[in-house]
Amino acid sequence: MTVLVFGQSGQVGSELARLAPDARVLSRAEADLADAQACAETIRRLRPRAVINAAAYTAVDRAETETALARVINGEAPGAMACAAREIGAVFVHISTDYVFDGSGDRPWRPEDTPTPVNAYGRTKLAGEDAVRAAGGVHAILRTSWVFSAFGQNFVKTMLRLGKSRPALSVVGDQIGGPTPAASIAGACLTIAGRLGDQPDLSGTYHYAGAPDVSWHGFASAIFAMTGQVPQVTAIPSSGYPTPAARPMNSRLDCSATEAAFGIPRPDWQVGLREVLRELGHRA
Ligand SMILES: NC(=O)c1ccc[n+]([C@@H]2O[C@H](COP(=O)([O-])OP(=O)(O)OC[C@H]3O[C@@H](n4cnc5c(N)ncnc54)[C@H](OP(=O)(O)O)[C@@H]3O)[C@@H](O)[C@H]2O)c1
Repeated sequence: MTVLVFGQSGQVGSELARLAPDARVLSRAEADLADAQACAETIRRLRPRAVINAAAYTAVDRAETETALARVINGEAPGAMACAAREIGAVFVHISTDYVFDGSGDRPWRPEDTPTPVNAYGRTKLAGEDAVRAAGGVHAILRTSWVFSAFGQNFVKTMLRLGKSRPALSVVGDQIGGPTPAASIAGACLTIAGRLGDQPDLSGTYHYAGAPDVSWHGFASAIFAMTGQVPQVTAIPSSGYPTPAARPMNSRLDCSATEAAFGIPRPDWQVGLREVLRELGHRA
């Protein structure tokens, strides 16, 4: 086996399975990240050349109260898995998030900027990043943002559902980021895994998000413009949509190091959105 993927049913995991039919893609039933040592043992037993961790505790609001479980899945398991990958000489590609940053300012975050998460999910993901680095193997931590696809739950599918039943929607207009197609993330992970095998010195932390940066309101407007749905979309401030977990206002990610190291440019989210909408049966 060459590539082992964790997170079969997720947005990115599903796209990895589609893009790399030869990869072994594990479900939660086969490898539960709540049992970090069992996941590490699975890596040692299967001996892949590359491991891609697309599994995570992604319920951002629930992580505020279920923090201990989120910490094991996002914070501890990636470290144990990265140690096992190092032991068998496999590269380890780990997906992380813009939510490790506090969202201040309006400059795109660089990989070397100091992370100070504003919610429990972000803190558990940051713990996972630290554990992967501490494992000391050949690795890439790929921070992405605002993931969407035809699989799983995401903003695009929520907007399509609400757009069917409501004549008007209020959507947050003061959080800015890069919507990122899961298919593009899957492609980037596979490219990076391949390159790290030849060039272990490229190990490090990278950013990868769709372009151009936009607000949730702008993203929602694009969804409805492409599908021909007609709800009136009004921009509201984050304060008008309180959630259990705080969200960073500025999620812009500076992805230039990823393009420089691996030749992977930011994907155009409008192209990815059109493809996802078609897959979901919209004329787009
Ligand atoms: N979604 C976003 O907007 C976003 C933004 C930035 C970064 N990210 C990061 O991108 C990566 C992929 O996200 P995604 O959107 O593809 O996630 P997703 O669709 O929510 O899928 C998460 C995957 O993790 C699996 N998982 C959860 N708990 C598990 C456990 N205890 N053991 C094994 N598997 C478990 C889920 O399996 P089950 O179906 O069995 O629960 C599912 O396959 C994650 O690292 C996430 O933190 C996501």
